[in-house]
Amino acid sequence: MTDALRPGQTIGILGGGQLGRMLAMAAARLGLKVHIYEPGANPPAGEVAYSVTTAPYDDAAALTAFADSVDVVTYEFENVPAAALDLIEARVPIRPNRQALATSQDRLAEKTFLNDIGLATAPYASLNTEAELAQALASVGMPSILKTRRLGYDGKGQARITDRHDAPAALAAMDGADAILEGFIDFDHEISVIAARGLDDTIACFEPGENIHKDGILDTTRVPADISAATRERAFGIAGTILTALDYVGVIGVEMFVSGDEIIINEFAPRVHNSGHWTEAGAVIDQFEQHIRAIAGWPLVDPLRHSDVEMTNLIGDDIDQIQAIAQETGAKIHLYGKAEARPGRKMGHVTRILGPATDR
Ligand SMILES: Nc1ncnc2c1ncn2[C@@H]1O[C@H](COP(=O)(O)OP(=O)(O)OP(=O)(O)O)[C@@H](O)[C@H]1O
Ligand SMILES: [Mg+2]
Repeated sequence: MTDALRPGQTIGILGGGQLGRMLAMAAARLGLKVHIYEPGANPPAGEVAYSVTTAPYDDAAALTAFADSVDVVTYEFENVPAAALDLIEARVPIRPNRQALATSQDRLAEKTFLNDIGLATAPYASLNTEAELAQALASVGMPSILKTRRLGYDGKGQARITDRHDAPAALAAMDGADAILEGFIDFDHEISVIAARGLDDTIACFEPGENIHKDGILDTTRVPADISAATRERAFGIAGTILTALDYVGVIGVEMFVSGDEIIINEFAPRVHNSGHWTEAGAVIDQFEQHIRAIAGWPLVDPLRHSDVEMTNLIGDDIDQIQAIAQETGAKIHLYGKAEARPGRKMGHVTRILGPATDR
């Protein structure tokens, strides 16, 4: 391919967390260097990268030097300020593109986009004030979930409303941020599709994983998901529709609720995704290499699954179990090199191979 990066060329990654770390390791296997840009000191990705810039996202000189030192830029963190992206994009391509990033940054823009391309979401209404919340509750109904439009992750910035009396406290929990009320979906299964689109428009989807959350944080992903073949095919179709509509290049994680025969889209992340970590142990290619291939203009790999697997996040104190897990045959350990185990902090994950791939 003409636009493909050659071994020895460099990928810039905005954000230095565990996703950046795993992308850097995948890039290294393909002979590509990685330059991490991260405001915080000692980022997990910095331990395995070729170079690291420690500077804030409003440091124009640092951003310019970073952009000039790399051949393509990607991100593992969605909330990079637009001005930083403007500066970088004037010098080097950003993949996935700005539209994908901007759409996923704002739950209102995201739902509007999904509905516009014919895909189903929970009913929703955007709001700021108590009066608007009362109107939104009348149109969306209860139970529902109030969420901040921007900057939420791991279930943060969310409040359930099951009764009108919950409304004031839920609004107070938004702390003045723009909010969106979403109808609560009483789903049978929560699944995600990790999919990729290459520079040559090829699309490749990993099989859906079934996700279980605890306290708003992803706990386990099991593959195969307990869904019908027809639902699986529809889930692939949805991921493909989103990728094409965004003219996307890279890996995307699309979170979906399955309710009976219906698929309702929760949200998408324009990057590799925690619910795709199983691919390291369960498929012929992992999501990290697939993303690097896509943004580097390399061919995508047909991501066949060879094993049934279950990925479990190691959160906070879970890391203390590591010596016991290390004795298990078939448990693939991945730790992120974070020094301090705080409650709710993702410290690593373990993927257990359950057996050869079955249909379900
Ligand atoms: N409308 C909804 N109906 C039912 N459950 C929901 C709804 N919205 C969110 N949830 C539950 O809460 C979880 C976290 O919500 P969401 O994905 O919106 O938050 P997030 O902060 O972006 O989380 P993450 O970083 O894990 O993706 C979902 O995976 C789902 O289990
Ligand atoms: Mg989510």
